[in-house]
Amino acid sequence: MHAAAPMSSPAGFAPETVDFYLGDPDPAFATLRRQDPLHWYEGGGFWCVTKHADVKEVGRRPRDFCSSRGTQIFQVALDREGGDPRPDRLLQTALASAPNIIMMDPPQHNRMRKLVIDAFTPRSAGHLEPRIREIARETLAAVPRGEVVNFVDALAVPLPMLVIAEMLGVPREDHPHFRRWSDQMIRTGAGIFDDESQQSLGELFAYLAERVKERRDAPRDDVLSTLLRTEVDGDRLSDAEVVMFLMTLLVAGNETTRNLIGGGMKLLFENPDQSAELVAEPERLPNAIEEMLRLVSPVRNFCRVATRDVELRDRTIREGDWLALLYASANRDEEVFGEDSHAFRIDRPNARQHVAFGFGEHLCLGAPLARLEARVMFEELLPLLPGMELAGPVEPLRSSLMNGLVGMPVVLPA
Ligand code: HEM
Repeated sequence: MHAAAPMSSPAGFAPETVDFYLGDPDPAFATLRRQDPLHWYEGGGFWCVTKHADVKEVGRRPRDFCSSRGTQIFQVALDREGGDPRPDRLLQTALASAPNIIMMDPPQHNRMRKLVIDAFTPRSAGHLEPRIREIARETLAAVPRGEVVNFVDALAVPLPMLVIAEMLGVPREDHPHFRRWSDQMIRTGAGIFDDESQQSLGELFAYLAERVKERRDAPRDDVLSTLLRTEVDGDRLSDAEVVMFLMTLLVAGNETTRNLIGGGMKLLFENPDQSAELVAEPERLPNAIEEMLRLVSPVRNFCRVATRDVELRDRTIREGDWLALLYASANRDEEVFGEDSHAFRIDRPNARQHVAFGFGEHLCLGAPLARLEARVMFEELLPLLPGMELAGPVEPLRSSLMNGLVGMPVVLPA
């Protein structure tokens, strides 16, 4: 038995499906935020957390709402069928025992965060800025002018991938392999486990284990060396833990940042007045990026499982119940962002209050880096914006987890 008289879901509501997101999910989210903010979705068998305040509340209570029993909507069905819902079971097989930070609970999770945090402070990310700018400029210089190109492939994909390659100590000549592995990791993150992904994961694991060994023997001034060096109260990460963490970075930091850059550019095309304002006042860029994060919500949702019976917003959540944290809804919550929450406003005073990076215990470690990459990329793009044109229909990524694009034809001024 669940909470008292939950309302039935709005017509067409199915946040576990691609089609729901390919249509317009906002009216259904807005209805739920108003009428049944913590909604039991019978069709999927999970709670839908649609309000900003509740996403934060659940995020800051990892002992009541855990990650170790699953974090993805596609796992709900696996769990209900009695299967093993953990997405990293494949990775765990490869690595024998090292778990993935995203699916850890306290106290194990606190230990892990302490051991990796040094590599992810805004200062550490800041050290990467000159290299990020160099990569952004090279990427831009390689794009032909005056003809139609796919913005996603040409400008949104390369930067995050090359920055992670850099962090992981992957030399240039290995970038083509790395690209293939990255794409496979993204498929795995979306729950696709087939022979191809299994083989790729094995290769990637062996490759990263070699990079780790290399850096243990000869540390450098890079993120991987920082991870290996960090010691807290005599405790260090094992090689297997470091490799697992590096693999997690590939899933967590690659496609997300790509989708922020692609989705952010789309917002600028759709809002020419805001784009013109940004060109005139480039100092608004950091806030514009927060507004992009809010409206794009590159990660649409993440889940938690209740560890005990909990009362929340007049509902009784039972031990073992799944909750989907619907970031895309929370980021348009009128109670926080006002009645124009759907509008792209680069001067929105509280844009930064979005929960696009999650909230609480598992708050995104890569947030400073993602912000930096987006800022540098758009700084380089700004001078071109006035002459840049959208040259055809945009093709969305088919995913219920990631809000992304696969195609956005553009022409850069000659
Ligand atoms: C726009 C880009 C990004 C978005 C929208 C994003 C979003 C998120 C979200 C929503 C979470 C929380 C998951 C949860 O609550 O269970 C998360 C966690 C995480 N992100 Fe990001 N992310 C981005 C970029 C990055 C980058 C660039 C990296 C690193 C290279 C990264 C590394 C991580 C890691 C390691 C975690 C797990 C933290 C933990 O479990 O304690 N992310 N991210």
